[in-house]
Amino acid sequence: MLVPTSMKKTEISLNHLTADELRTRYLEFFRARGHAVIPSASLIPENDPSVLFTTAGMHPLIPYLLGRPHPAGKRLVDYQKCIRTTDVDEVGDGSHLTCFEMLGNWSLGDYFKQESITWSYEFLTREDCLQIPPELLYITVFAGDENAPRDDESAGVWLSLGISQERIVYLPAEHNWWSTGDEGPCGPDTEIFVDTTREPCERAADCIAGVCKCGRFFEIWNNVFMSYQRSGGKTERLPTHNVDTGMGLERTLAVLNGAESVYETSCFQPIVAALVALSKYSREEMKQDQRLERALRVAVDHLRASVFILGDERGVTPSNQGQGYVLRRVIRRAIRFCDVLGIEPAKWVESAQVVIDTYSNAYPELSANSARIRNELSLECGRFQQALGKGSRLLEHEIERLKREGATLLPGEFGFRLYDTYGFPIEFTQELAAEQGIQVDPEDFNARFEEHRAKSRSEAAKSGLADLSEECVRYHTATHLLHSALRKVLGEQVQQKGSNITRERMRFDFLFPRAMTKEEIETVQNMVQQWIDRELPVGCEVMQYTNAKTSGALGFFEDRYGNDVSVYTVGDVSKEVCLGPHVSNTRDIGRFKIVKEQSSSAGVRRIRAVVS
Ligand code: ALA
Repeated sequence: MLVPTSMKKTEISLNHLTADELRTRYLEFFRARGHAVIPSASLIPENDPSVLFTTAGMHPLIPYLLGRPHPAGKRLVDYQKCIRTTDVDEVGDGSHLTCFEMLGNWSLGDYFKQESITWSYEFLTREDCLQIPPELLYITVFAGDENAPRDDESAGVWLSLGISQERIVYLPAEHNWWSTGDEGPCGPDTEIFVDTTREPCERAADCIAGVCKCGRFFEIWNNVFMSYQRSGGKTERLPTHNVDTGMGLERTLAVLNGAESVYETSCFQPIVAALVALSKYSREEMKQDQRLERALRVAVDHLRASVFILGDERGVTPSNQGQGYVLRRVIRRAIRFCDVLGIEPAKWVESAQVVIDTYSNAYPELSANSARIRNELSLECGRFQQALGKGSRLLEHEIERLKREGATLLPGEFGFRLYDTYGFPIEFTQELAAEQGIQVDPEDFNARFEEHRAKSRSEAAKSGLADLSEECVRYHTATHLLHSALRKVLGEQVQQKGSNITRERMRFDFLFPRAMTKEEIETVQNMVQQWIDRELPVGCEVMQYTNAKTSGALGFFEDRYGNDVSVYTVGDVSKEVCLGPHVSNTRDIGRFKIVKEQSSSAGVRRIRAVVS
């Protein structure tokens, strides 16, 4: 996706359209054309270790684009929360965001180019839709290469709708071939741009849609014709034609609202206003000073991203790995930019409520998890302030030492230790060192980092639940009872984060922001034992995912749409989605004892227990 560094105002009449209205218009338009509305999936991809976050609307639909039947049908429409952090350094310009929403409509082996393009055109231009004047639309299509022919078919549809030839640009795969990565569904795409100035820049005839970065052309929608699959280095035809479209909600709103940046739209304005009120600078002063404007945008974007990640139904908490590390970086980066604006970190954290209020209509999980969002943000804020104090002092000493020795390279091992011990993001070390003319040795750092990753991966691999011995089966059922008891005693914010069972003991990790008291541990232990002693029967029912969810069963819904899941019940005390196996009656568990309660990682507690 080509993104201009700044945006120009457009003169389109939908000045007051809000994000909520745009979502509704989009869903209704496609619903009226036979599409089933499906819910936004979690930000944490299910069963896909290749990416940390859902980065596009199509991500949760990959199995269906590859041919698996979707229970909701062949035409789908949704809005999807996404996180992309590859461009995190670009955040602060007019349109790059780490957290954004994508509106999408899909054909799974149903309609293809003709309908897809015609509906896009209608939705963009119709009176009751977005009212974009057709003469502002510019289109790019695939120019063809060894994998697929030039897309004259799409160009032909655009021409038939009245888009003139000079507003249709053929571009190579680099621009108009879309895939999620090296493997998976892919295909040629046609991208829709809005001409925001109606004037070529100084490049004159070279000011071309999709290519020129002057800011004149602003991409709002991408229709991908996924009829190919990339696998093992080869691109092959898929048996069916699919359509995957993605319309950037914030970008489209900026165009419709005639805004200078996405931050001026209704999705951001309450958040911007809240942070401006906390800053020692006025909005005007920020607009005059690029450094302040950028800091404000980063603080706003990162606040929204942190709230969405923490508030996600699969809630991630800050840590030194994977998604948790991205979250940590985003929170800590925002706090540094708040400093530029004179905003106290604790006040920035309080503004999370504004994000929750702005979005809870579309994403009810944010209000459901508001306590976790606030707790985790404050905890991370505190940790960062401590780490900054300690880490900065160590780093300053090291830099002094290096300077005395005339060295210009900071050993990667040092950077890694700051990262590992103090949660000091490597980017900060790089920036602070660079201010003193010192570079962090990148190779050395990467080597340490890889070593650390490999170690954590092998630890993760060891936690499988493959042992079906009698001892392990007892622990499986005890785990369900423990989960239920924790939720009864500590509240519903308790959520399982992981479980590890051996023949000798069980380990259970769960989201909870503080240590349990002695009394709480005792109450939980007694509750589990009472349930065991009641000789409760264990039942299993196979049901559809949606039914399992509405029936209130706990658990990770590994396959959100369609596939049947097993729901295990223990008397009337526990109901959980699980693969089993379990004991048939709780009396088989025996004596249950909690041996330890400790911290596992930020915001996550760990219980070790044994049965005998
Ligand atoms: N999957 C396509 C995109 O994200 C629509 O641009």
